[in-house]
Amino acid sequence: MTTAAQVLGQFQAAGVETCFHDRHIAPQIYADLNGSNWGIKDYEARGGYQALRAILGKDGGEGLTQDQVIATVKESGLRGRGGAGFPTGLKWSFMPRQFPGQKYLVCNSDEGEPGTCKDRDILMYNPHIVIEGMIIAAYAMGISVGYNYIHGEIFQVYERFEAALEEARAAGYLGNGILGSGFSFQLHAHHGFGAYICGEETALLESLEGKKGQPRFKPPFPASFGLYGKPTTINNTETFAAVPWIIRNGGAAYLACGKPNNGGTKIFSVSGDVERPGNYEVPMGTPFAKLLELAGGVRTGRQLKAVIPGGSSSPVLPASIIMECTMDYDSIAKAGSMLGSGAVIVMDDSRCMVESLKRLSYFYMHESCGQCTPCREGTGWLWRLVDRIHRGEGRPADMEVLDSVASNIMGRTICALGDAAAMPVRAMIKHFRPEFEALIRNKTPQAAPSA
Ligand SMILES: Cc1cc2nc3c(=O)[nH]c(=O)nc-3n(C[C@H](O)[C@H](O)[C@H](O)COP(=O)(O)O)c2cc1C
Ligand code: SF4
Repeated sequence: MTTAAQVLGQFQAAGVETCFHDRHIAPQIYADLNGSNWGIKDYEARGGYQALRAILGKDGGEGLTQDQVIATVKESGLRGRGGAGFPTGLKWSFMPRQFPGQKYLVCNSDEGEPGTCKDRDILMYNPHIVIEGMIIAAYAMGISVGYNYIHGEIFQVYERFEAALEEARAAGYLGNGILGSGFSFQLHAHHGFGAYICGEETALLESLEGKKGQPRFKPPFPASFGLYGKPTTINNTETFAAVPWIIRNGGAAYLACGKPNNGGTKIFSVSGDVERPGNYEVPMGTPFAKLLELAGGVRTGRQLKAVIPGGSSSPVLPASIIMECTMDYDSIAKAGSMLGSGAVIVMDDSRCMVESLKRLSYFYMHESCGQCTPCREGTGWLWRLVDRIHRGEGRPADMEVLDSVASNIMGRTICALGDAAAMPVRAMIKHFRPEFEALIRNKTPQAAPSA
């Protein structure tokens, strides 16, 4: 049996830069990967494309109808891994299957949320699992054309996915009359340019159409007015990657891997002040303390101070709260934050929360697409206020102004980037207000107190 250290050694010897590690509990997406077995033969040897064959009745079975596939995904409790956690089977059932014109399937591999680095690893080390998941989704919704929109700054991942597409086409899994059936599906890769906002689904569609990547007003939603104005279903890379396992093992088995309403496993990108940062695939509902332990614990000699549990837009939680949480949508929401994309940013007691918020606020100011005034202007106000406090030039009223600006952005914008900029500010004020006030009072950065 290959040990984690050996797998890591193989990567390092090959000069591969990755945050992939062989440290998982009950892996479904990351099972048996070693860094070099991404190709179609290896994928088939791991049971790959069997779900597709079963659906099409290619191995002696009767096959599955579109309704049966959607019902299985609904039963699995799979929730979208792109951030909002919307139930995938339900989303698929919104697709108007009888629509007479073109319908589209889109995979969102834009992955720009700070802290998130799972989709690029899935595409690099297991690209066929995404391709198979997309083919199954296309079959279930009666879609004949799909795109995978891949983040602009990871060109080697794009090339890997293109290579996998070629293999799948040559093997008859993509194209006209898949495996001799009456079902056809054309799948293409599309290279984005690296803007965070293009991960928002309607901005992504605009960008895919060749326009400036700016979000659209909703409704209408993509299910009725999506790519080129046609019905479109968009899911995250990790969402599609879960589908082959669900079809092979059944919806109930997937649900049982996690906890009610939070089926299956989830990949968490653990970064920050831990000994072994990386991607970890664990069952939904795994205690945060267990995930932290997998990642080697907090840096030696330090105490846990706070955690951003779901990517930079999810509200920060102090150590005392996160240590009581399990890693699933419901537990993290109950604690006042969001599981989001599963990017777990760990901060130890050396971290200044004012500086942390300053960096987050700068990101959102920089990434605002500028369409709506509260976001365009408000993200700049937030950054300037936090920067002023951090420089020791804060004024007594600044905390109220910060809270007021954040409150006035929330719910008043076209897309959720405005909320994503405001929520971290409000959470920092809620949990770490004394740190900000001390800096305003004393004019110099303070030693960060433990939470
Ligand atoms: C500013 C912003 C950025 C987003 N970035 C991503 C992203 O990089 N990847 C992603 O899958 N979803 C992202 N989303 C969420 C998508 O809009 C969409 O909800 C998701 O792709 C749906 O897939 P799912 O149901 O499988 O989660 C983003 C949303 C917002 C508001
Ligand atoms: S909220 Fe911000 S990013 Fe979203 S559409 Fe408005 S200005 Fe653009």
